[in-house]
Amino acid sequence: MNPNLHSLQAYPFERLRQLFATVTPNPAYTPISLGIGEPRHATPDLVKQAYCNAIMDPQGGLSVYPATSGVVGLRQSIGRWLQRRYGLELDVDKQILPVNGSREALFAFAQTVVNGEAKGAGEEPALVVCPNPFYQIYEGAAYLSGAQPYFVPSDPARNFAQDWDSVPEAVWARTQLLFVCSPGNPTGAVMPLSEWKKLFDLSDRHGFVIASDECYSEIYFRDEPPLSGLEAAARLGRTDFKNLLAFTSLSKRSNVPGMRSGFCAGDAALVKQFLLYRTYHGSAMSTVVQAASIAAWDDEAHVRDNREQYRSKFAKVTPLLAGVLDVALPDAGFYLWAKVQGSDTDFARDLYALYNVTVLPGSFLAREARGHNPGANRIRMALVAETAECVEAAQRIVQFVKSR
Ligand SMILES: Cc1ncc(COP(=O)(O)O)c(C=O)c1O
Repeated sequence: MNPNLHSLQAYPFERLRQLFATVTPNPAYTPISLGIGEPRHATPDLVKQAYCNAIMDPQGGLSVYPATSGVVGLRQSIGRWLQRRYGLELDVDKQILPVNGSREALFAFAQTVVNGEAKGAGEEPALVVCPNPFYQIYEGAAYLSGAQPYFVPSDPARNFAQDWDSVPEAVWARTQLLFVCSPGNPTGAVMPLSEWKKLFDLSDRHGFVIASDECYSEIYFRDEPPLSGLEAAARLGRTDFKNLLAFTSLSKRSNVPGMRSGFCAGDAALVKQFLLYRTYHGSAMSTVVQAASIAAWDDEAHVRDNREQYRSKFAKVTPLLAGVLDVALPDAGFYLWAKVQGSDTDFARDLYALYNVTVLPGSFLAREARGHNPGANRIRMALVAETAECVEAAQRIVQFVKSR
């Protein structure tokens, strides 16, 4: 067995299952889950139709092996989207690669770029720098590539910005890969240009690669849409996107988490090596999914509509919760990241027991690093259900907090 498997931690939902194992939720209430961050708005008909048409296509459909680089029509569709959304002109053959959702791609990318055997003078392992709290795939990707994760805390006093300045130079010197998550899960924070500049300077100095996870980029609450790492690079004159790959997904943008479709784009040298890795790994996207993805990337009307649904839902739910918890409207994403009194696991367990509402304890989404778990005393609420259900959940949480 691969010994690095021992380093993998239980997924937050498994830990939640254990936390709730001995609890019987109050049967007076119907269950409401704000736990899992799975989009639940309707999948657009135009995507389903394109999928059905493709599956019935006698020339293609399921009867052909897809190419790992995808059909040129998909890469062009993604290229047009990057142009519309960020004003960027990418080489669709050299700088864009379709992936089967960003999760597998973020994981696989670490296996491509990290040299787990590289050790510094002090025989210390390579590092993969991750935000904290974070999407757990980063940690598993680091361990299985033979590296160690190094966690950088988010700072609640600065809109949950990562405290990059706290990272010692000696850590950056051992860093081979940095994961950035903007908009962040669970904080919803969007990273500004000044922080991108800082990270690009560090990457230039130390030679590490940046993987920018941007899967929440289309769900935002401010006037200005979230900045992409690619856009930040271009604005800073880095038009070759040196050492940068951005990961974008249709799952949240187009409500198709079951389709498994996204793309990565950026530095042509990284795309080339990643394509090589993926050819062996066997991660080509079905041509049926490619056809449905083209329909999704080419349409913005459903994306605007989806965003409006989240905006009106957050506008109703956030003020209710802000009356009893330390919580505010995030920049983007579909989570509320709230501070609670006392232990986050007690809060989640008691809320479930008394009001049948599931929230995720923040400490499950973060790691204790240098004596501090930045998720402790926080909960994550995914506002993915219909508005009425989310409002009902918020009202129950208000009652719960007032009765504690
Ligand atoms: C921060 C973050 N990145 C990536 C993903 C993976 O999304 P997908 O594989 O559906 O593109 C998720 C899913 O919840 C996420 O929260």
